[in-house]
Amino acid sequence: MFDVHQIRKDFPILSRLVNGNPLVYFDNAATSQTPQQVIDSIVDYYHRYNSNIHRGVHSLSQQATDAYEDARKKVQAHFNIKKPEEIIFTSGTTHSINLVASGYAKTVKPGDHLLVSAMEHHSNIVPWQLLCQKTGAILKVIPMNPEGSLEVEKIDTLLSPKTKVVFIGHVSNAIGTIQPIEYIIEKAHSHGVEVLVDGAQAAPHIQVDLQKLDADYYTASAHKMCGPTGIGILFGKKEFLEELPPYQGGGEMISEVTFEKSSYADLPHKFEAGTPNVAGAIAFGAAIDYLNNVGYENFVPYEEELLGYASNVLRTIDGITVYGDLIDKTPVISFNIDQLHPYDIGSILDQQGIAVRTGHHCAQPIMDFYHIPGTIRASFSFYNTKQEIDRMFGALKKAIKMLK
Ligand code: ALA
Repeated sequence: MFDVHQIRKDFPILSRLVNGNPLVYFDNAATSQTPQQVIDSIVDYYHRYNSNIHRGVHSLSQQATDAYEDARKKVQAHFNIKKPEEIIFTSGTTHSINLVASGYAKTVKPGDHLLVSAMEHHSNIVPWQLLCQKTGAILKVIPMNPEGSLEVEKIDTLLSPKTKVVFIGHVSNAIGTIQPIEYIIEKAHSHGVEVLVDGAQAAPHIQVDLQKLDADYYTASAHKMCGPTGIGILFGKKEFLEELPPYQGGGEMISEVTFEKSSYADLPHKFEAGTPNVAGAIAFGAAIDYLNNVGYENFVPYEEELLGYASNVLRTIDGITVYGDLIDKTPVISFNIDQLHPYDIGSILDQQGIAVRTGHHCAQPIMDFYHIPGTIRASFSFYNTKQEIDRMFGALKKAIKMLK
């Protein structure tokens, strides 16, 4: 049985007050909260074996190296990745995407097409625009419709012999839509085109099996999965990672260095120059353990229940517009109330201890599509409750009264 009250005891932050009120944390799509077990793993690292990895002969270094590589194995098992060397530890999804995009400068030619969706986070648009500027490639866009899903059937006309790579968010951060990536990957592969999937918003809510999905690259950020900030992964199929040039030069990514020339280390070290975020990787491993102990099969249905409850409650508010009100979505509700400014509503909710995100959510093309400056986004996690949703409902009523 899923016992949310028991789960909440693992998250110290959930018992704090904000502006004199118990915190209601509905900004999980921006960053999730951290359970004590993950905090403990960081404290334990600094208490007992803080050391640089892959370098020292001494015991601490060996222990830190083992724990770091153990974390890679946890990532491997969690995402069902064939080989550990297909996992690069990065600072997060933005770093992962930039690493791949910059590597494509080697192969992309003027006039080549890069295919993106209309619903991407800026971090899955701007790195590719930089690549276009560098190479003369052209950015093509799979359009979206007012329901908040992609017009995927258009992919047939958008894919052409000129298409070099497709990059697509598994889940929209702004409105929560789960994209039909299996279909998109299959179509792209039938044209011999590689696909990068931004999994930042999917990994906290969907148990992703990368061998089954067959994405060529996949990214995730620990801080959205109950882990710490500053650590994430890039998965890449070995044959593609081997072809990509290194993103940064430095220690530990080389095999041999002379002033004439350097040769690079094998995967994954070729992409892990410098001292990595050792504590972060170990804590990411602890977060994966935590999520799997709670169990996706237990918390995902509960999150769906929260989403259904919130949708029903919010729908009773006069003048509310919910964007992307679809069945296939993660526990995110993005909405506006009449012409009231999202920022004003967000500030009044904050005064009552309720944390939501307001604005364009780093996905301006979606806001432009709906002709709005932004939305109020409430994003839930498995440690939230229906009582908290009721509190947000009451706070929204109060905000409407104050602002109208
Ligand atoms: N990408 C994060 C969000 O959607 C920061 O809020």
